[in-house]
Amino acid sequence: MKNFTSLSDVSNIDKLVQEALQLKANPLSFRSLGEGKTIGLVFLNPSLRTRMSTQKAAMNLGLNVMILNVNQESWAWEFEDGAIMNGMKVEHVKDAAAVISQYCDIVGIRCFPSLQNKEEDTNEYVLNQFMKYCQVPVVSLESATRHPLQSLADLITITEAWNQPRKPKVVLTWAPHIKPLPQAVANSFSEWMCKVPVDFVITHPEGYELHESFTQGATIEYNQQKALQGADFVYVKNWSSYHNYGRILPENNDHWLLNEKSMQVTQNAKIMHCLPVRRNVELSDVLLDGPVSLIQQQAGNRLYAAQVVLKEILQSLNQ
Ligand code: CP
Repeated sequence: MKNFTSLSDVSNIDKLVQEALQLKANPLSFRSLGEGKTIGLVFLNPSLRTRMSTQKAAMNLGLNVMILNVNQESWAWEFEDGAIMNGMKVEHVKDAAAVISQYCDIVGIRCFPSLQNKEEDTNEYVLNQFMKYCQVPVVSLESATRHPLQSLADLITITEAWNQPRKPKVVLTWAPHIKPLPQAVANSFSEWMCKVPVDFVITHPEGYELHESFTQGATIEYNQQKALQGADFVYVKNWSSYHNYGRILPENNDHWLLNEKSMQVTQNAKIMHCLPVRRNVELSDVLLDGPVSLIQQQAGNRLYAAQVVLKEILQSLNQ
């Protein structure tokens, strides 16, 4: 594996999941692999899970870790080639990425979408500008359109929790939120679910359709109760409108909050959410804290998702 920014960097999904589960059983089995090497984790946006799980994954592999919070602890970056930098942006990504490449053997970067410029976000302008000037492997810590480390952890969690011979029914349901959020987690989860043996349904109010490039193979159902019928896993997530880009639509969709009543039509489905969650806005406390919640297990598996990806990249660096 050279980089990890989307599912297209993975040659064998099932093998990657099985290797992650082996690392979970024996987290220090490759503790010398990263010896003498350094990973830089660059954050243009906040994080709890991605930051700490990737840091711990790196430490389990013997890597040194450096963290840079751009904007807060570092200079604000300019991304536009040829920019006349007479404004508030102090350092060009061309210089920053080249410098970081001299200190680090691998770089992880978190770069959320602006939710203002649809074309730039859709084309992963920020991530691609960074990668253009970075000279070492890059791992996405969530970009404008995808969150692949989250999706890998989600798939690891489903694999652990499912022990029946039939395919599970997995439902991704839109949930209410107080502010516009990126589509990245939903896009990525859909992209991964469409490539593994599950029956996959996405449900959301009309107007919240994801870009179709992420949903090829999914069933789209606008009626949440119909979608939840017979579900084995329910993934709860808010996202803003893609078509009316970055907006919360004016209709009141508060009834999309997932609670015990809405779950009655499922097959005692397990609940998933990537966190952070707005309790009692997206889903109820009862579900979050109850026996059907896989949410803490999901967060725990972020460690093994990051660790297996860093292991693959380190092994390819050593070849
Ligand atoms: N799920 C997730 O990516 O969490 P953080 O934003 O806290 O990293």
